[in-house]
Amino acid sequence: MPKETKAPQFEKLPAHIAIIMDGNGRWATARRLPRMAGHRAGTENLRRIIKACVRFGINYLTIYAFSTENWKRPEDEVQGLMQIMGDVLEKEVPELNEQGVQLRHIGRLEQLDPRTQKKIRKAIDMTRDNKRLILNVAWNYGGRDEIVHAMQKIAAEGIKPDNITQKVVSDHLYTTGIPDPDLVIRTSGEIRVSNFLIWQSAYAEWYFTDTLWPDFGEDSLKKAIEDFSARNRRYGGRKPAEENEKYAG
Ligand code: FPP
Repeated sequence: MPKETKAPQFEKLPAHIAIIMDGNGRWATARRLPRMAGHRAGTENLRRIIKACVRFGINYLTIYAFSTENWKRPEDEVQGLMQIMGDVLEKEVPELNEQGVQLRHIGRLEQLDPRTQKKIRKAIDMTRDNKRLILNVAWNYGGRDEIVHAMQKIAAEGIKPDNITQKVVSDHLYTTGIPDPDLVIRTSGEIRVSNFLIWQSAYAEWYFTDTLWPDFGEDSLKKAIEDFSARNRRYGGRKPAEENEKYAG
């Protein structure tokens, strides 16, 4: 079948999608492969999903790639993931740049080894004027840690308690200036938040799927967006009266 060339039209398009890319290890185990093969396949899939987001017209994509808790994994897996990040930064950034992707980092950059920090800063600098898709890479990121970091900055700036509003907190998070995610996707059947964007996802729609991350391709993303399109977001408000009428019997 020829590849679909025209981008699908959705009734409602989320401006910001965030993804917990889970299940690389199980994908590899199911094939009797080492875990790193799963992470490499997950990285390949990430390329597909970035391309799909550009095609669909998504403005912001945030991916959970390495959490502040992932340091607890065996040393060889941690090093393997750092190696993948280094390779991606070296080899993939020119193509991302061509696609109009602006790369950003969220998390504790200063705790990464200086060479990785340098590569990340270079990639951010190279893509800073791109406007098609803003890609936030959460690397050494934790939601609680982000909030602590924001509080430390607020205190250091001497902002008085009465002046600390929700906007002030949002403005001190790593995601400052970026709208909150509309849709958060978690693959691999786990139904947990796992410390991801805990402030920003307060009103997000969540989508959980059993599909393992390396298998979550463009069609799966399309399905998740269609599911999102059909939802009625109320932000704590009410359903329209006529919708409640259905329950009147
Ligand atoms: C979760 O699967 C996945 C991760 C902890 C790593 C995600 C990283 C990538 C896809 C690498 C590419 C990212 C960048 C930005 C270079 P898991 O290992 O927890 O899977 P399991 O639960 O099946 O064991």
